[in-house]
Amino acid sequence: MHLKKGLEMKISVVGCGYVGAVTGICLADLGHEVTFNDIDEEKVEAINFAKSPIFEPGLDRLIERNRSSIFATSDLSEAVSNADLIFLCVGTPSNGDGSINLEYIMSASKDLGMALEKSSAFHLVVVKSTVLPGTTEQVVKPAIEKEAGKEAFKDFGLASNPEFLREGSAVQDFFHPDRLVVGYRDARSKALLETLYSPFGCPKVFTDIRTAEMIKYVSNAFLATKISFANEIGNLCKALKIDSYKVFDAVGMDTRINPAFFRSGIGFGGSCFPKDVRALAAKIEEIGQNPRILRSVLEVNEVQPIKMVEILKKYYPNLRGIKVGLLGLAFKPDTEDVRESRAIVLVKRLLEEGVEIVSYDPKAMDNFKLLFPEISYASSPEEVLNADAVMIAAEWKEFEDLDFKGKLVIDGRRIKREMRDAAIYEGVCW
Ligand SMILES: NC(=O)c1ccc[n+]([C@@H]2O[C@H](COP(=O)([O-])OP(=O)(O)OC[C@H]3O[C@@H](n4cnc5c(N)ncnc54)[C@H](O)[C@@H]3O)[C@@H](O)[C@H]2O)c1
Repeated sequence: MHLKKGLEMKISVVGCGYVGAVTGICLADLGHEVTFNDIDEEKVEAINFAKSPIFEPGLDRLIERNRSSIFATSDLSEAVSNADLIFLCVGTPSNGDGSINLEYIMSASKDLGMALEKSSAFHLVVVKSTVLPGTTEQVVKPAIEKEAGKEAFKDFGLASNPEFLREGSAVQDFFHPDRLVVGYRDARSKALLETLYSPFGCPKVFTDIRTAEMIKYVSNAFLATKISFANEIGNLCKALKIDSYKVFDAVGMDTRINPAFFRSGIGFGGSCFPKDVRALAAKIEEIGQNPRILRSVLEVNEVQPIKMVEILKKYYPNLRGIKVGLLGLAFKPDTEDVRESRAIVLVKRLLEEGVEIVSYDPKAMDNFKLLFPEISYASSPEEVLNADAVMIAAEWKEFEDLDFKGKLVIDGRRIKREMRDAAIYEGVCW
């Protein structure tokens, strides 16, 4: 994918986590000049050394290839001073009650306002963080306007451009999105984003800002629902001795249904689905309605990893002192991200039962250690196999070739279609 000459823009990215890093580095690869800003000095430093601040396949190669058009700074004014577009990519985690925490959005918006106050140029602020409908216009806009002493949609542009990338295949997702969604109000902002996204051939949905914000939540809530549905039915399949994979493969062939994200296992984790479903449910409650479906989606997801412990108890009714080898700690393969990983739920329960755990993950062990310093971390997946039972919580490709001969294996992710070598093999839903 190449830009036509003359379409290059100056872009700033505020927040260099998974979304900011991928967006900025890929935009640099398209030919734009990108300045990154983060409050985390380590991320700023990594980028200036041409190292991706997060692990994502393909990103280190792209940052190296585009190092001459990439720069990072912890000074926001410096980052935005000559930027045409400023992407806001800070985190929007959950509060304790499940509602959305806008602390980072608020402070970044204020800082952005102060930076815009110093500039006489027109800048377009694009909210890429996942925020509930109304947030861009009711939270981001007044915070920037107050500090900048300027009016949105006139003195500076403001738009929403939710992100749909999947960690682990984020670079591929950036260059080949299913669709792009842009929420805008002023024509100048729309034109800038049309130009930015002109190299992309996918459908582009230009709509109002609140609708764009809503589209993101509905996408995530629907995918999470599909997974919890597959798990509830998968549990029934297991009880009836039916292979849920055969069922969902065939059901997914219906074009009205689609096979993607239609597999049973131990549920969804990560930085998006759980918190976004919780935030949407909290919003539904806030307006006095009952989020029955979304609450059930979350409930099924919370108990699903525990099914693996129940299976283990069939073989070891008393788990105290049993040694479990746990493969996969990241919330999914090809990432170091452990946020809301189902392995967390599983490990908590195993520890409560008095199980000794030795674990392995190709990328996520350092992050997991911060949460569970008390379990053991192996230096190879083979080491983990030397246990009373092996549990698989993330389907890293390299686990497929392990020699499970003679082992009791409880698989939460169906790492391969057939596992013939294990002494006992049990899938969580098959
Ligand atoms: N991770 C995903 O797969 C994904 C996909 C789609 C959408 N999203 C959404 O995108 C947003 C970002 O997610 P993420 O996973 O990249 O988060 P992240 O936690 O990985 O990164 C956020 C970054 O923002 C920085 N930050 C916080 N406050 C700042 C400030 N005031 N100024 C500058 N930097 C600041 C943090 O230091 C951090 O590096 C969230 O709203 C998330 O829901 C994430």
